[in-house]
This record gives sequence, structure tokens and C-alpha cells, in this order.
Amino acid sequence: MKIARVSVAGPFLLAPMEEHTNYPFRLQMKRHGAALVCTERVDAADVAARDRRALRLLFTNAAESPRVGQISGADPSVMAEAARVVEEQGFDAVDLNFECPIRRLVNRGEGGALLADPPAVERITAAVVQAVNIPTTLKIRTGPDGATETAPEVAARAEQAGAAAVEVHCRSVQQAYVGGPDWSVIPRVKELATIPIFGSGGVRAAADAVQYLKESGADGVGIGRGCLGNPWLFAECRALRHGAAMPKSPSAQERGRAMLELVEAEFHLYGNQVALRRLARTACYYAKFLPKFAEFKTGVHAVRNIGDFRRLVKESFR
Ligand SMILES: Cc1cc2nc3c(=O)[nH]c(=O)nc-3n(C[C@H](O)[C@H](O)[C@H](O)COP(=O)(O)O)c2cc1C
Repeated sequence: MKIARVSVAGPFLLAPMEEHTNYPFRLQMKRHGAALVCTERVDAADVAARDRRALRLLFTNAAESPRVGQISGADPSVMAEAARVVEEQGFDAVDLNFECPIRRLVNRGEGGALLADPPAVERITAAVVQAVNIPTTLKIRTGPDGATETAPEVAARAEQAGAAAVEVHCRSVQQAYVGGPDWSVIPRVKELATIPIFGSGGVRAAADAVQYLKESGADGVGIGRGCLGNPWLFAECRALRHGAAMPKSPSAQERGRAMLELVEAEFHLYGNQVALRRLARTACYYAKFLPKFAEFKTGVHAVRNIGDFRRLVKESFR
């Protein structure tokens, strides 16, 4: 598959997730078979101002290629400047977030709020397309709420403005992350747009991804919460789609190794203090498969540095 001139090796993509899809996480998903990875949403105003924290969130290198940097905002010129920074950082595409349901953002008229204003999405997209040489893609939802489906119009206008692909999270902004996704929106979007259209929402197992792809006709499927602590999901999706033998479920040791790989990379990336704050959450996604999960969790709270954590993993994942 191609997003403009960017080749993407397959339909199983890592969906962007705030606080999760940092560089080490993306690299791990890529190594396990994600065909395309994306950063979390970063405020365009901060990116345009080259704020240090924003640039850290947009750290990338070729090892995770092809990769996408995501920005959110409502001002076309600020979004255009932020997109230039995303391009400078080395990303293969810039993704515009018109999907985030967080109240703070929606109240500012950004993220998901813009789905109520398709002409504004078109203006912002056009400004970004003109500012950069890398492809511009969009992340949207079905619409502002269950009764108002603007995704088909937004995708059509985005294509008109020069966007190269659109991913629809198949829930409304009002739904946030609760309730079933409605993948029936995808054929309606594809009726009005000819660029690649991806869907996301509700993939927890390979069978979900393959079924959504087949039934909706989407060109790709973004995997969100389903891959937290479970990078093996990507290889399973690929195997199932190609009728190949399902890979064996990871052993406890493999789970422990993947967890340690990610946690070590987070200590390296963030330093001791921040990595420790993130540790319980990052580790527990992998450890929830352990028979002695409760014990492990208690152990995590006593960890003070990476050495302590290595010892805990060694004892727990035998
Ligand atoms: C914790 C969390 C953070 C998310 N952050 C972002 C984000 O920064 N940008 C974005 O476009 N989508 C974000 N999403 C939406 C996902 O990309 C994806 O569309 C959604 O999670 C799909 O649903 P699923 O989790 O049921 O698979 C987030 C989702 C979750 C669960």
C-alpha cells in the first residue's frame, strides 16, 4: 500500500495513543510487524514554537521508518509551521488530529471539535499540504456524536485539499473511548474519497482486525489498546490474514523480555524519575498475563531504579 509516495508494508498499523506511543513503544511495535507507526498527538502551538518537551515527543530516527508525526490545532498557519517542524524532525508523513475528545482541547475548538466544521478542516489541511513536502494525513472520528456523521464529508474535503490518507476512529467524539465502534462508516467514507482510508476501534485480537478489514473494505486498520502489552498481535494479524500458521503464544519469558526491553528504553529516554512514574502502567500491561500478577504489582511499587526492576522481572518471569 502507498500513502502518496510512502510505501507501507501491509494494512496493520499502530494507532497513535497519548502517553503510550513514544519512540521505544513504536520501535517495539514496528519490530513485531506494525506496518506504520505514529507519535501521540502534540500541540501544534508548542511544536511551532519548538518547545523542548514537544520536540522530545517528536523524536524519531530511521529505525522506525515509515513513521508519522501527529499534531493538533485549529489555526492554519500555526498548523503549517508545526508541520514544517514535523518534516524537519524526519517523519515520513504529518498527521492532523481532528479526533481527540479531551474536553480541554474540544473547548478550544481543536481536535474532535473540528469535525463539526468540515470547511475548517479543509482550510487547515490545505495550509499544511502547501507547507510541507511529506504527505499529509488525517485522523478523524465518525462525527461529533452518534446522530451527526461528518466523516464522509470531512474525508472528501481533505482529499480535495490534498490529503494523502485518512484514518477514521469508528466512534463519535461524544463516545470518547466507550461503546462499540461502528465500522459501517468506512464504506460511506470510501464512497466519497479515493485516497487510502483506514479504520480503528475495537481490535483486541487478530480475528477482529481481519474481520473489520474484510467487512468494511478499509485499506488498513489501526490497532490501539489491543497492542498495549501485546506487540505479538501484529504478527498474529499478518498470519491470519495470509492464512499462515498462527505464531505460538509468547512464553512468560518472552513477555518478560519484551517488557524489560521497553522499560529499559524508557529509563534511557526519560531518566529515573519520570520512568519510575510511568513504570507501574507500562509494566502491568505486559504482566497482567502472569498468574502472580498481584504479587508482581506489589513488587513494582517497591522498585527504585532499573536494577531493582531487572531483579523483579527475573524472579517473576521464570
Ligand atoms: C489512551 C489513548 C490515547 C489516545 N491518544 C490518541 C492520540 O494522541 N491521537 C489520536 O489520533 N488518537 C488517539 N487515540 C485513539 C487511537 O488512536 C485509536 O483510534 C483508538 O484507540 C482505537 O480504538 P481501540 O483502542 O478500541 O482499538 C488514543 C486512544 C487511547 C486509548
